[in-house]
Amino acid sequence: MAGVRRAVVAAAAVLLLACSLAPTATAWVSAHNITAFLNGHPAYKLYNKYLTETRVCDEINTRAAVTCLVLTDAAMATLVADAGSELGAIKNALRLHSLLDYWDTKKLRALPAGDTLTDTFYQAAGNARTDHVGGVKMAKLDGGGFGFKAAASSADTYDATMTKALKQTPYDFAVLEISAPIEFDGLFDVPDVANLTKLLEKAGCKRFAALVAGTPGVLAAYQAAMEKGLTLFAPNDDAFLAKGAPDVAKMRRADLLALLLYHGVPSYIPRASLKLLKSAARPLRTLASTASGQYNVSVVARGDDVSLDTGVRKCRLADTVLDDTPVCMFTVDKLLLPVELFADAPAEAPEPAPAPAPVDAALSSPPAPPPADEEDSAEPADHKHKDLKASSATAADALRSSIGALAAAGCYLLLLLL
Ligand SMILES: *[C@@H]1O[C@H](CO)[C@@H](O)[C@H](O)[C@H]1NC(C)=O
Ligand SMILES: *[C@@H]1O[C@H](CO)[C@@H](O)[C@H](O)[C@H]1NC(C)=O
Ligand SMILES: *[C@@H]1O[C@H](CO)[C@@H](O)[C@H](O)[C@H]1NC(C)=O
Repeated sequence: MAGVRRAVVAAAAVLLLACSLAPTATAWVSAHNITAFLNGHPAYKLYNKYLTETRVCDEINTRAAVTCLVLTDAAMATLVADAGSELGAIKNALRLHSLLDYWDTKKLRALPAGDTLTDTFYQAAGNARTDHVGGVKMAKLDGGGFGFKAAASSADTYDATMTKALKQTPYDFAVLEISAPIEFDGLFDVPDVANLTKLLEKAGCKRFAALVAGTPGVLAAYQAAMEKGLTLFAPNDDAFLAKGAPDVAKMRRADLLALLLYHGVPSYIPRASLKLLKSAARPLRTLASTASGQYNVSVVARGDDVSLDTGVRKCRLADTVLDDTPVCMFTVDKLLLPVELFADAPAEAPEPAPAPAPVDAALSSPPAPPPADEEDSAEPADHKHKDLKASSATAADALRSSIGALAAAGCYLLLLLL
């Protein structure tokens, strides 16, 4: 009896050790790559091309448990025409076709009678006007097969049927071919980016908007970049009052110009893509960058946390104001101070590390929500979808929390035994 007890205690000790180590198991290698997969299937060339151009591929590749509803070139051409060939509009549609759950034919066959609603990346991006607009309804059809339509659709019929299961890796990644695009009224609506200053003002960046408008050359440089790709890091009004913020009114004109241009990167890099950049240590070129690589900025990503390192300090990305391919805009709560201008700025205390996920969060199977201050809250309040935002946490988090959950469950069991 004592022997058994000793063995159980030893096992408990091992498991407790595992419990304490589990949350640090961060090395996560993307288990699936939609781009690489579709590269091997020439029938979906157009679909793959737009997944890459809109960077929806990065969203798919950084999340566990996804289902891609893909279209052959002919069906995709219909979607592109319906979207007026506008990349931002196509991005909305591709996100609607990317489901935030794993669905294979086995799961589909087990669907109850009637429609079943599933969430999509479109909702996770904060586009949906109400909870269910932006979801997709699925059903088993009377004559066999499976039908799909937008949750917002009032039609009795289904937009598309499943024609082929191309890939089914439980419970991580499924790729299903469907017969036609899924659409609804308003799917192709994109924000108006024509007036950048107005957009900045609305996002709580009035000071920055005024500086951009009042410094000759800045707006023109942003607008020129917008045609090919622009990622703008806009300091909010508090950033100008923050500790260590420079007095912009006293800056030399040329320095101010460089500072403002430094906040723009001449390529389209939405949040999921910034997160993937962490492995590529190469700094990003900004609109202020010189040929010799001055005024570059580095991206530091850790889980859902994305920061920019200027060499002087790190600034965390706050909200996504706009993501309309090829333009995206984030707010930052500090000014990005390039080392070339502010090398003498006082060093800051390091930022506190994000709090570890609470145990009960680790026990639930969906990915743990990001810390509250991390949420993209750029969209108007009625566009917010906290739960969906939470479910778009990275796959790394998902893996970490499931390891944590397993370990924790093991510990509970053993504690019960003792
Ligand atoms: C996915 O595959 C494509 C094409 O092979 C490659 O360019 C890309 O870097 C891969 N992405 C990731 C996240 O590994
Ligand atoms: C853009 O918006 C700002 C502020 O709302 C306004 O002052 C300006 O006239 C607008 N510019 C254009 C070109 O419409
Ligand atoms: C600046 O960034 C560009 C583009 O990534 C890169 O080619 C260059 O080497 C960088 N320069 C420095 C000094 O980091």
